[in-house]
Amino acid sequence: MSSVKPYTYFSLLYSHLMQSVDYKFWAKYLSEIHDTLGDKSDYALELAAGNCFVTKYLKSKFKKLIVSDISKEMLLLCEQRIDKVCCNMTNLPFSYKFDFIYSTFDSLNYLNTESKLSEFFENISGNLSENGFLTFDVSLKKNSVKHLKKLNREGKFKGIKYVQKSVFNDETNIHTNTLTITLKNGKTFTEIHNQKIYDFYYYFDVIHSKELYVAECFDAFTFNDATEKSDRVQFIVKRKN
Ligand SMILES: C[S@@+](CC[C@H](N)C(=O)[O-])C[C@H]1O[C@@H](n2cnc3c(N)ncnc32)[C@H](O)[C@@H]1O
Repeated sequence: MSSVKPYTYFSLLYSHLMQSVDYKFWAKYLSEIHDTLGDKSDYALELAAGNCFVTKYLKSKFKKLIVSDISKEMLLLCEQRIDKVCCNMTNLPFSYKFDFIYSTFDSLNYLNTESKLSEFFENISGNLSENGFLTFDVSLKKNSVKHLKKLNREGKFKGIKYVQKSVFNDETNIHTNTLTITLKNGKTFTEIHNQKIYDFYYYFDVIHSKELYVAECFDAFTFNDATEKSDRVQFIVKRKN
């Protein structure tokens, strides 16, 4: 069995594993956030877009939208006719500034060390326009624990067999998903996905330590204030100046 980097084969299963996710509903929520803060002349950037399932519902909302992800394999399965850039969100390659930067579905939890998270916020202000904003969701501990049972699963999709093991480590706060994938030719690979479940207040500390501030933090999919007891929270972050 060989180990491969995350999303090499997982990308082929992504649409199957995420079939219960209502991306239209998720996009509607982001769209409502954008309606209150931005307008149709905005230049937008999607981070960690994956297969672009949310993108298709949002792209008409902006003057221009670029999607990005660290995984070429994920972006290659994005069916949208849109500009795609393969890059690490901690080190964005753009020389211009965006009015609306967003990401969905726990993607910032993939920044699984404090230094990666810090680097991300350190750099992002350089890619935000003066009145631009960044919005992203993160999963908190309650969410990790709640979904553990259903993330331990196995199945078959397009001839690929998979076994997913999901473990949350209470001491390190790392949520690990290990996928064992067997291809049609019998070859077996493992992919390990480590997500860090940071403390709710830690995000505020790191964001405010950079040239940024938290304008709002909602209990995800609502416009109510989030708390440390929320499952998932939606941040809206702006530049200090
Ligand atoms: C859970 S998936 C979410 C994908 C998509 N946003 C969605 O809602 O379906 C997480 C995504 O984060 C991407 N990712 C992980 N670390 C990244 C990084 N440092 N920079 C950019 N993308 C990253 C992965 O390649 C993957 O596509």
